[in-house]
Amino acid sequence: MEWILAAIAVGVLAALLYWQLIIAEGAYLGRRVVTLLYDWSAHVYDRIKHFDSRYEQYFLARPITSALFSFPNPLVLDVATGTARLPRALFAEMGFRGQIVGLDLSRKMLEQAVEKTAPWADRITLIWDDASRLPFPADTFEAVACLEALEFMPDPDQVLAEMVRVLRPGGLLLTTNRIGKEARLMPGRTLSAEALEEKLQALTLEMVKIRVWQEDYDLVWALKPGICTPLGVRQVTALLRCPECGAKVTRESDHFRCNKGHVLPIAEDGIVELVRIRDAEAESVPVT
Ligand SMILES: C[S@@+](CC[C@H](N)C(=O)[O-])C[C@H]1O[C@@H](n2cnc3c(N)ncnc32)[C@H](O)[C@@H]1O
Repeated sequence: MEWILAAIAVGVLAALLYWQLIIAEGAYLGRRVVTLLYDWSAHVYDRIKHFDSRYEQYFLARPITSALFSFPNPLVLDVATGTARLPRALFAEMGFRGQIVGLDLSRKMLEQAVEKTAPWADRITLIWDDASRLPFPADTFEAVACLEALEFMPDPDQVLAEMVRVLRPGGLLLTTNRIGKEARLMPGRTLSAEALEEKLQALTLEMVKIRVWQEDYDLVWALKPGICTPLGVRQVTALLRCPECGAKVTRESDHFRCNKGHVLPIAEDGIVELVRIRDAEAESVPVT
């Protein structure tokens, strides 16, 4: 009898772990667990996902490039860029001549991104940071994307609001909505298409379109109201803001410095490590 109870307990525990760590990818256990899981799996992430470059071109790069056709040098922000799946698809697209900023909270995923975007290193800036406070001024990017990631973040509404804030009026927002049977195993983290559309409209977005994409995700397209006139090539220094005080920054040899003296480190592999500043900031907050 005892061994049956023990076997049931082991089975329940295994199912719980499978749910929390494999299906929900740590989403209910906080951002540190999510990041740790991505750090551990970064080296096999692309292999697990079986990305097909033709498929990526057809569903992602080509429609984004067409939507941005009137901008000779579009600036794209890819939130939770992971191994730079979206930047790679865009750079491989003939008509795309823009610059990309990729941001992610997993350092190891970004290391993969550095390697995989090496042929386009002069057109991409990779930032190690949390998506909930984007270090850019309002109305900066012609397109802002976040693929297959919102449901793993503690406050997806805050991230969506940030994405809309940094998007230029007239700019394109692209995100994903988790669907399929696994979506039902992530209560409170997934939305119906109708609820998501309402949420995006409440953020003032218009022309919201939700399209079938993969077994687990729909693609969600929307526009920020307004008119976007083309701008020339912009340097990352003109975009980046100090996470500590919001001031503008200038590039010095191996770091950025804001005009209030805060240092934004750039690692040897080129990744801008804003997490370091945020961690230092959090440690300096007095516990009340
Ligand atoms: C399933 S992957 C998607 C990566 C990429 N967008 C793609 O489509 O391949 C989810 C990504 O979200 C990132 N992520 C999770 N929470 C984050 C957060 N709070 N801020 C920034 N990135 C986060 C993870 O590190 C991981 O790289």
